[in-house]
Order: sequence, then structure tokens, then C-alpha cells
Amino acid sequence: MTSSSISTQSSGCPVAHMGSTVRSTGCPVSAGAAAFDPFEPAYQNKPFEYVRWAREQEPVFFSPQLGYWVVTRYDDIKAVFRDNITFSPSIALEKITPATPEAVEILGQYGYAMNRTLVNEDEPAHMERRRVLMEPFTAEALRTHEPMVRRLVREYVDRFIDQGRIDLVDEMLWEVPLTIVLHFLGIPEEDMGRLREYSMAHTVNTWGRPRPEEQAAVAHGVGKFWTLAGEILEKMRRDPSGPGWMKFGIRQQVSYPDVVTDSYLHSMMMAGIFAAHETTANASANAVKLVLSHPSAWQDICEDAGLIPGAVEECLRFSGSIAAWRRMATADTQVGGVSIPQGAKLLIVVASANHDDARFTNPDLFDIRRPNADEHLTFGYGSHQCMGKNLARMVLQVLLGELTQRLPHMRLAEQTFSYVPNIAFHGPEHVWVQWNPALNPERVNPAFQIRDIPVRIGEAAKQAHERSVRVEATHALSPGILRLRMVAIDGAALPRWTPGAHIDVQCGQTGISRQYSLCGDPAETGAYEIAVLKEAEGRGGSRWIHEQARAGSMLTIRGPRNHFQFDEKVRRVVLVAGGIGITPIQAMARRAKALGIDYVIHYSGRSRADMACLSELDALHGPRLVVHASDEGSRADYRSLFASYVPGTQIYACGPARMLEALEQATTHWPADSLRSEHFHVQAAVDSSLNQAFELHLKDSGLVLHVAADQTALQALREANIDVPSDCCEGLCGSCEVQVLEGEVEHRDVVLTRSEREANTKMMTCCSRAAGARLVIHR
Ligand code: FES
Repeated sequence: MTSSSISTQSSGCPVAHMGSTVRSTGCPVSAGAAAFDPFEPAYQNKPFEYVRWAREQEPVFFSPQLGYWVVTRYDDIKAVFRDNITFSPSIALEKITPATPEAVEILGQYGYAMNRTLVNEDEPAHMERRRVLMEPFTAEALRTHEPMVRRLVREYVDRFIDQGRIDLVDEMLWEVPLTIVLHFLGIPEEDMGRLREYSMAHTVNTWGRPRPEEQAAVAHGVGKFWTLAGEILEKMRRDPSGPGWMKFGIRQQVSYPDVVTDSYLHSMMMAGIFAAHETTANASANAVKLVLSHPSAWQDICEDAGLIPGAVEECLRFSGSIAAWRRMATADTQVGGVSIPQGAKLLIVVASANHDDARFTNPDLFDIRRPNADEHLTFGYGSHQCMGKNLARMVLQVLLGELTQRLPHMRLAEQTFSYVPNIAFHGPEHVWVQWNPALNPERVNPAFQIRDIPVRIGEAAKQAHERSVRVEATHALSPGILRLRMVAIDGAALPRWTPGAHIDVQCGQTGISRQYSLCGDPAETGAYEIAVLKEAEGRGGSRWIHEQARAGSMLTIRGPRNHFQFDEKVRRVVLVAGGIGITPIQAMARRAKALGIDYVIHYSGRSRADMACLSELDALHGPRLVVHASDEGSRADYRSLFASYVPGTQIYACGPARMLEALEQATTHWPADSLRSEHFHVQAAVDSSLNQAFELHLKDSGLVLHVAADQTALQALREANIDVPSDCCEGLCGSCEVQVLEGEVEHRDVVLTRSEREANTKMMTCCSRAAGARLVIHR
């Protein structure tokens, strides 16, 4: 046991034993928990891999070596972030390895007094300060820094472009983020070398395990960092005019002297330089290393810069610069069903959350088109979410935009990666790359010009998730229905999908994209299949596909995404399809059969000739398929079909609005949520001129937003730097859902079930609004 063990151990093991027998590991601590040591190289290298066993078997465990409870699953970690009262951030900057008396004395000589900062402060002080200091972080304010970021990145690439082999960290990825951070904070560019040395000392001092003989040197480094931060602050005080967050803070001190105090500014100066720089530098090194180790991803972003924002989010998810963060329980509580005593310390491994397969399909696949990559927790969540997240995104996007244009032939050199041993930050110390300068595009192509690749922050980035596929085959299922089978261009596996999932198909240059449910076999990873009904009255999307898609043609798609999830635990399923609505139902039926679930399919259409896939369905499902063809007089009678509820039954339905309304009415006496429907279209348009403005209170972030009458809640959230995923932006897909805590919602989506609407606990922010003057949501 190390000296860092928590005090609870002195009064006995904090694990709720619940009568369990003593294990060979000494108490009811599993072998995995007993062996857990985040200073091991395996944790430094791939933290998500190191705790895979825990994510799968023991998601919350007590580590006797560390003296912390370790939390590894996405939902549990998000719940901890969300509740910053029960889970105080006060220990976020506490030294994980206690200082030796000599180190304490050295720090004292420098007057080191790092205190509360935005990272480790409790409420109510934290939100009060955050609000006062927030303005320079809004999307609008951040855009003013974009030219500076571009200029810097370009200048650094200019310096080494003819060298052919460099350590990118040494040549660029450490200094550029630091210079950007200094600009952002309003600090003059000087003492950069000293800052590098000192910030490394700060990492080791706070989150590392310095050996006793190293502690004195580390303490001197931290002390000097503290002194330098104070000197810079004093310099800025003499002239606090002009841009920069610290200067803004100094000016705000005049209006809010009790909120922005002297000691707070000094702590924030050191913490701000460090936090913003360390995270962005590590994130940059991780991102370059990741994309270069996946040559097809690198090639894709070289060929299509529109993929860069999505690639950045996937890099942040797959290998973010934050491996873990810390919290302390302020009361006896539970995390993931495990009892946690008051005073216990928690290590929340966000790198593990980002690889939780309950949140991310196929999480260990690096997929730059992953639709929900931006749900990662690398920036934290809630009131303590990283304020500088969008500055980091901007730096990463500009960096990849520049490198892909100017060095598309760059490769990773042979090397062994090393990491600074610590529990919180993750990033390689060096990234050696090589290329042939003779092949630099600017040498080879006299007409070469560097483009400014647009930065996307705080906006829907549909293009960022696009992928090109080749149509392998088409097949007319009926006179109006075309089936398409699509494969990856390089023949590689496509991301997995589950029944109910859809993809978006871009209909050439028409500017139209259409959503189609996947109807093939989810077990097949090499291809996607959709069936497209030609809609004569439509906007032209389906017509384009019917006329243009041929075997061999290329299509641009997005997804898959699934907002019509099939519950694999149900005992009995009734699947109801009308017309082309058979597509998601077909995949569900296949899955139900594979799982041995009791199921029946009711499939309605005008005539058998018009109904897609009938013979295939018949062959696969036999008597479980009930066909209702209008021209045979066998219309589905939902009232009698669903006259009585059979316990444990779930209904899934997809079809025209009329059919879904009839089903809703026929099942009003069934338990809430027995019926889950997928709509083809949004309901009748609402007259937006009647919209009223309202207040949106964000409980987790402690903010109050004004949603103007001509603005959606989603737009207001984005403007305030709050991440909310979105996709369709018309109430169809469910991506932008948030939890509602107070206030009545005027629902305008077609995603929620009747009972979900009545429960008033969720809303789609892209279209739904407050029915009154105010809503309180989780965010
Ligand atoms: Fe699709 Fe809001 S973004 S429902």
C-alpha cells in the first residue's frame, strides 16, 4: 500500500463487504482492483485498455494502492460530473503523491499558494466566477482568434517543411498550443522555455509520482512557475487593456472585487496557462499520432477536409488528452449501484467512458465518421466542463487542415512512444514523423496554394460524418421500390449497426439528403442495404436515387445512427409495418428470430405487388408474417389486434402517419411506452411567427439562456458553448434530446412517444419550445 492511501483505510476497508468471504487479495477487493496502478506504463499508454476488465466486470471498484474509488463506465462518470454537489471537484488539483517535508519547505520559500481555480472550486462560488469570466469563451469571441491560430500553425510548418524528419512535439506541437494559449490569455510571448520546464514540473507535482529524491527539483519547478505567474500578472495589471482572458479577468475585478480576488487571479494565471496548454498540446500530439497510425483515415482527411471536424472529435474520444479526473464524495452515496462513503475520493477514468460500448458502437474502432463521437467526456460535462474546449477544437482543426494540405505524404517514423507518468493527462512526449521533401505539394505543383480550411465549432457538422460508398448492386423490389447494396470503397468493414438504425444518403448535388433505414442483416459488416420508395410528390431525393444510383456508382452517406432502438430483452414483440416502413421492421424481425424472441410481423400495403421483400420475409419468417393487402380486403384491424394487452409485449411500428395514429389510438389502454414508432416525416408545420421567447435554465452548468422567438433552444445552447449533438434539426432523429426538470414543453418532434410527452421529462431542442416562460433542463 502506498503512502497516498486515503484516511478511510486507517479505520478499515471502505468496501461494503455485505457478508462476502475474504478473498486471496486480502479483503473483498478483486484481483483486478488490487493490482490497479495508474502509474504503470500500460495505463499511461492506453488507459481505456488498462481498465477494460473493470468496464466489463467491475465498473466501480476501490483501489487499495491508490486509495481511490475508480469509476469506468460512461453513464456513471456522466452522473458524477452532473452532480457537483455530491461529487465535489475540490480535490481535482490535490497532489496525488504527498510532498516530502523538504518539498513542502521549498514550495513555502516561493510563497506557493495555489488555491481555488475554476477547476477545483465548489458551488456557489464556482458558478459565480465562471459566469463573470465566461465571455471570452463564447463561440463568437473565439472566432476572433482564428486568424492568429492559422498564422502560427503556418509559420511553424514553414520552419520544418523541408527537413523530412522531425519530432513534431518538439518542433511544433508543444510550442504552438502554448503560444496560442498565451495569446488567448493576453500574455506577451516570452519565457516560453521556462514555462515548458515549469509546467512539466506542475504535472509531476500534482498528478505524478515523483521519487523522494526528485521531489525537491519538482518543488523548485512548481515554485518558479508560481513566481513567474505572479510576475506576468503584475505586468498585465500595469496595462490591462486589450484582448486576452486574463486581462478581461483583471478588468472584471474592478466590477466584481469579491468574486475575482487577487489570490484567485494568481491561481488562475498559473492554472490557466497550464490547463489550456497541457491539454491542447497533448490533444494535438495524440491526434497526429492517431490519424497517422490509421493511414486510410489520414488519406481520407487529406482528400476531404470536410472530414476534419469529425476526425478531431473522434481523436478526442479515442485518445483524448485527459485520461482521468478526480472528485470527492461529500455524503454517503452510490455510483453505479456501489455504495461510496462520505469523504471517499473518486478517480473517474474518462478515457474508459469514451470506450464504453454501451455508449459508442464498436468503441475500439477509430472511425472519423462516427456520428456520436462528440459525446465523448474528454472535456468533462456540466458546470465544470472545460471552458476552453472550443479553442482546443479550433487548434486541432487548423493543425490537421494545414498538415494534410502541406504534408499529405507524411508518415509516422519507427519509434517507441513514451508518456509522462501521471494519472490525469495523456499524450506522447515525442511523435517522430518523416516524409520526402522532394514530394512536398508546394514543390511539385507550382500552382499549389494553401487554403484556409473552415473551422467548425459549435455548429452542426453534417459533412464531418460523411463517407463515400460504392453501390455494389441494385434490385427492383417492386415497380416503385429500389433496393441498394453499398460497400466501402476500399472493401473494408463498415461500422456496425443495430436494427432500427438509419443512414443519410446525399442525393448528388441536389442539396437534398434523405434518411433510409438499414434493412439488411446487422451481422454482415461488409455492406449496407436500404430500400428506397420513389415518391412522386417528394422533393426529388428518392427520384434522384432511382434515376442515378447504379451498380458501381458512388454515394455519400452519413451514419448509421439509431433512434429507433430494438430492446433485445423483451419477451414478445409485435412488429407493425406499413408500406416502405417494412425496412427497419425487417431488420428487427431478423434479430428477434436470431435471439429466440417470440415475434409476429403485421405488414400492410395496397397490394402484394407493391410490397417490398415479401418473398424474402415469407421464407425467413413463415407463419410469423401476417400480410394485410388492401386489394385483398385484409386491412389490418389494430383495435382488435391490440384489444388486450399481453404482459411483456413491445410494439415497434414504422409506416405512414395515418397508420401510426391508428395504432396510437388502438393502444391507449396499453402501458406507457409499449408502442415505439418511427415516422417518415415531421408532423404539420408549426407557424413559427407565433413563437414566444423563453428562458432556458441549465441546471448542470448553472446558466440561464434567453431563447429568442426566432431562435431554437439548440441554437441558444450552441451560442453559449454548450455541446448538444444534433442531426436532422427537424424533430425526426432524436439526437438533440435533453432532460427537462421543470416547466412545460411544447413538443414539436415525432420522436417521443405519447407517454414520454406526457411525462414532460425530455425535449428535442432543435424544434420543441417552452409552453410557458421558462424551462429547466439538464446540461
Ligand atoms: Fe434530430 Fe433534433 S436534431 S430531432
